[in-house]
Amino acid sequence: MKNSIKSSIIISNLCIVVIAYITTLALSSNITEIISIKNLLLLLIYILISVVLNSIISNLITIPLKKITRNMNIVASGKLHEPKHLEEYVKFLEIQDLVNEYRKMMALINKNSFDLNGQKSKTEIILEHMADGVVAFNISKKVIHINKSALRLLELKDVDYTFDKILQKLKINLEFDKIMYLPNYKSIETKVTVGSNNLNIVFVPFFSDKLSPMGVIMMVRNITENVKLDNLRKEFVSNVSHELKTPLTSIKGYSETIMNGDLTYKEILKFSKVINQEANRMDRLVADLLQLSRFDYKKVSWKKMMFSLDTLAKGVCEKMKYQADQKHHKLECIVTVKPPDVYADRDAIEQVIMNIVSNSIKYTKDGGNIKIYIGSVNNNAYFKVVDNGIGIPEKDLDRIFERFYRVDKARTRQMGGTGLGLSIVKEMVEGNNGTIQISSKVNQGTEVVVTLPTKINATNK
Ligand SMILES: Nc1ncnc2c1ncn2[C@@H]1O[C@H](COP(=O)(O)OP(=O)(O)OP(=O)(O)O)[C@@H](O)[C@H]1O
Ligand SMILES: [Mg+2]
Repeated sequence: MKNSIKSSIIISNLCIVVIAYITTLALSSNITEIISIKNLLLLLIYILISVVLNSIISNLITIPLKKITRNMNIVASGKLHEPKHLEEYVKFLEIQDLVNEYRKMMALINKNSFDLNGQKSKTEIILEHMADGVVAFNISKKVIHINKSALRLLELKDVDYTFDKILQKLKINLEFDKIMYLPNYKSIETKVTVGSNNLNIVFVPFFSDKLSPMGVIMMVRNITENVKLDNLRKEFVSNVSHELKTPLTSIKGYSETIMNGDLTYKEILKFSKVINQEANRMDRLVADLLQLSRFDYKKVSWKKMMFSLDTLAKGVCEKMKYQADQKHHKLECIVTVKPPDVYADRDAIEQVIMNIVSNSIKYTKDGGNIKIYIGSVNNNAYFKVVDNGIGIPEKDLDRIFERFYRVDKARTRQMGGTGLGLSIVKEMVEGNNGTIQISSKVNQGTEVVVTLPTKINATNK
């Protein structure tokens, strides 16, 4: 059983007083004096004085101890606390030493806990603002931390999840223990699809100071863009091979037929014509690909200059007349408002207009109407090519500027199209600080609007 300092001091001093009283009187060897009223009264007074004095002394010791205990309780409850007014209660050197040591210890705890809190909040901010998702599970598979990116990427509504529930949702067949007891610095990686996102997920165990496993960290990275780019690359290679294979097959077939002999001059001429056509097609395709590759590697240097857009458009109209006449189209060039001179690469813009007009000629049934309007809006010059052709379905409009994208592959290939024209046009327009928009209705026609910077805007840049 433990006693308080105060009661111990009082009891021990009381004992001393009583023993002193009895011994003093015993020495006088008069037993009647020991129990005489006068001496008992004296004993009572001694006792009272001793209790009061002991109480004062014990308070001087216990009050600072109680204050220190209270301060320690506050610290133990997790609050940072600076002990105040302790010195006021200290009356003994030994207690002063204790208070000094206590202050030193508190200063150290406060500093460590400040550093720790700083570190914690820094880690929390980094985790919260990371594009990658991070989920931490404790040894009993419960989520102990999950950041916003993880909730978003894994499409989780709340944080009340366990390892098993999350893996079940992601359809990943993996045991917690298998990750927990992975050899040092090893991880398990897997790929899943959640909604429209492709995710790469890495599982690693984390350890305590003594290297015993404490749980599992799950890192989630959105790799949708990489997958998309990878698919585009694959699609591109497949498209190029296909586009080259078709004319090559014809060239091979016809040249073999010619080589086999037994053909009339007329037949040889006819087959040679086909070979020439297919070779030209391959030539065009390779030229287009080289042009796109120059855009990709930023190897194109624009020869920008001021020029009149309406004069250029009228020139293109003249040049395309023959092609339009072949299909009995009516091709017109109309200047609605004479625009200020544009600042761009003249040859590139000529190619842009030709490409767009050539599409209108190709994708409009014989006897169609194709108009090139030239005008000005908000100090920008624009031209608009409008046809009443076959049009483009709405679902294809978003993809029309993609390389090799064609609405009807088989049909457009027959017309000689490779699906690279509009992607080159877009690169050229944007490279000259212009914009391009396309709108269309199936069986009604298509409208392509291109705006270009003018002298006024160009000098502002
Ligand atoms: N004016 C238009 N009317 C209807 N469809 C069009 C029109 N312009 C383009 N398209 C559609 O958009 C597709 C892509 O056009 P783009 O100019 O890029 O390629 P292309 O004409 O097939 O080949 P290229 O221009 O390389 O010879 C075309 O295949 C066609 O389906
Ligand atoms: Mg085209």
